Amino acid sequence: MIAPTNKKSEFIAAFSEAIENKTFIRISLGKFRGQGEPSKAVATLVLLKDVPHLKLVTSLARKDETKTFSINDGINHIKAKIGDTYLSATLFAASGDVTLTYSRKREPQLIKNKATLTSAPPVAEHNRAKAYLVAPDRPYLQALQVSDGEGRVKPSMQGKYRQICHFIEIVDGLLKETEAGESPTLSVVDIGSGKGYLTFALYDHLATALKRDCRVTGIEMRGDLVQFCNGLARELGFSGLSFEASEAGKTSAKSADIVIALHACDTATDDAMAFGITADANLILAAPCCQHELAPQLDEPIDGLKGLIKYPLFKQRQADLVTDAARALLLEASGYKVKVIEFVSTEHTSKNILIAAIKSATVDRDLARRQYQNLKTSTGFSTHHLASQLKDD
Ligand SMILES: C[S@@+](CC[C@H](N)C(=O)[O-])C[C@H]1O[C@@H](n2cnc3c(N)ncnc32)[C@H](O)[C@@H]1O
Repeated sequence: MIAPTNKKSEFIAAFSEAIENKTFIRISLGKFRGQGEPSKAVATLVLLKDVPHLKLVTSLARKDETKTFSINDGINHIKAKIGDTYLSATLFAASGDVTLTYSRKREPQLIKNKATLTSAPPVAEHNRAKAYLVAPDRPYLQALQVSDGEGRVKPSMQGKYRQICHFIEIVDGLLKETEAGESPTLSVVDIGSGKGYLTFALYDHLATALKRDCRVTGIEMRGDLVQFCNGLARELGFSGLSFEASEAGKTSAKSADIVIALHACDTATDDAMAFGITADANLILAAPCCQHELAPQLDEPIDGLKGLIKYPLFKQRQADLVTDAARALLLEASGYKVKVIEFVSTEHTSKNILIAAIKSATVDRDLARRQYQNLKTSTGFSTHHLASQLKDD
């Protein structure tokens, strides 16, 4: 640890002053000399319940860690890191940049420069800033054990948290492309809702962040999960959120603006898509999990495709691909514009496809129908659960 110097005190004084006179933009910390994995860190201002706080994001090789402090605690925390964990700190303020660096012999040097950034961005509201469409301290995330009591994502739940954030960002973007985008009321049906991570996240985003009058229904065949989720929805005061114990194809739900099915097993994805099409939903979102119906039907493709099914592993992949391509084409044939996007990184699961279907009057339904028939003939399958549900075989 390097003893505090006048130069360090001068740097910290410039830091505090920039916050006080509202010229502070950010502070970055580098030249890591601490223990453990090397990192860099950046501190910016955020509002938490309308009170400015300092948010420090530490970037490690594979993940970012975020801590939020009151202004005084944040300044003290950063002060302790400078000259110890990090040997370089730069303050970016509208009034000018100030850099404090330490030489190999730990001699401090203070450099003042003209401002690189001339205006401070508006202070991000912690819950609503783009990078924080889902703030980790949301009460439902704590109740679902994604975050701890202090609102920090638990190390074992980082992947789930990223999946939730990514899902909400995707829905938020797609919603704007649909007719329901501007509607003050929204109904959502989530089929195969499981423990409800994404259902709670979507409800919270629509009702709390977007302030929509929404009704979200999770459909789940496991009664214990339904009981748990209904209890939690009540506890959190989520009056528009409820869960129904039902098989995907037998739900009592009749209508929906948005239908989602995320990693619902096997043909539950097809049941969800069929429900969405029949209900004339504006948006259908499905991350397929598995489908076992097609693999045994792909033994007799046209000659040109025989090489694709010669090896069992490729045959299974071919079955997954044909299943999902057929789903996408059937959605188009039903009047939906389809986008196929990556849902979560393949680092976590190979089931990373999200099929997004947006109701559209301009999609070429006949072309999609022909393409579906061609796919069927060339790959050799005779029945597909979604087509059967739509009576389109
Ligand atoms: C892998 S979990 C996914 C949960 C949640 N959608 C998510 O992505 O976090 C799949 C859930 O779908 C439910 N499920 C599977 N088949 C179903 C069906 N036919 N009807 C209703 N629920 C079903 C399972 O019980 C399980 O809870």
